[in-house]
Amino acid sequence: MASENRFRFTGVECIKFAVENVDDAVRFATDWGLTPVASVDPEVRIFRSVDGSEVHVAQADEARADRRPVGGGSGMCEVVWGVEDRASLLALAEELGSDRRAEFDAEGVLHSVDDLGINLAFRLAQRRSAVYEATRFNSPGRPDRINRRAPRCEAAKPHEISHLAIGVDDAGQAVQFYLKRLGFIVSDRYANRGVFLRCSPSGNHHHVFFMNAKVPGTRFNHLAFKVRDIHEVIGGGQHLESLGWKTFAGPGRHIISSACFWYFQSPFGGAWEYAADEDVVTTEWESQDFAATSHIFTEWTFGLEKSDGTLKGPISGSKDKTL
Ligand SMILES: [Fe+2]
Repeated sequence: MASENRFRFTGVECIKFAVENVDDAVRFATDWGLTPVASVDPEVRIFRSVDGSEVHVAQADEARADRRPVGGGSGMCEVVWGVEDRASLLALAEELGSDRRAEFDAEGVLHSVDDLGINLAFRLAQRRSAVYEATRFNSPGRPDRINRRAPRCEAAKPHEISHLAIGVDDAGQAVQFYLKRLGFIVSDRYANRGVFLRCSPSGNHHHVFFMNAKVPGTRFNHLAFKVRDIHEVIGGGQHLESLGWKTFAGPGRHIISSACFWYFQSPFGGAWEYAADEDVVTTEWESQDFAATSHIFTEWTFGLEKSDGTLKGPISGSKDKTL
């Protein structure tokens, strides 16, 4: 089962947001290091990372279905997944059309919805990886950067969308649609309180993370962007702080997925995360079930300690069932 990728998914292509303050969101996305690109719709602002993965942002409007974020306020309105070929889009249309809307628009993008009411879209993948020079480190007994100073990084330029995190009432329930209908794969989980899914057998450790949120309901939690290395995580985070944006968590390193991270509060209804050195997996990867303790959130971090010395994790302890 894990070796299948029936719909030939490639990852998250685009997140469409609607927000209460577009000016703030535009300023944040620009400061984050994304590139503004021309949009045919003047009401929609488009930002692109290096590989072509995108964020769209427009003014939230309760009266319009396409501008009404899941969970209200500011947040995501649609998650666009990439697939490798048109045959996959047709297969998805047939699969999803059996019990829900599954409609192609004029651009050939398929639109549907998951079991939680999150709008989904599927398009031919447009992302193209840039090849970076490897970051070289001098380890004891293994020097790898000879007669060269280490690169400096004063701001981030994210390479790609890594993953999306969504807060829900019951993560174990929420993932069923993705496992059974789309063929996603569990990479790891915190009992049933947080489930890390990847959309393809080989590649990024997770593309979407469903977590039991502290606030009831379904809503955007955070969006992670992959940068080249720890230097860019730190350089990007320091740049954001210098511009007045507030840290949500970090810098630190996750135990699950191994990512070096720095999260910031954003005007998009949740946090944005710089991430580097995340696990890359194949069909050989063995998923684990981790105890949902606050300490599991990080191997190390700054600024998350509570007065009793434990760490403030993002996972609620409200549900503890097995899948
Ligand atoms: Fe994350």
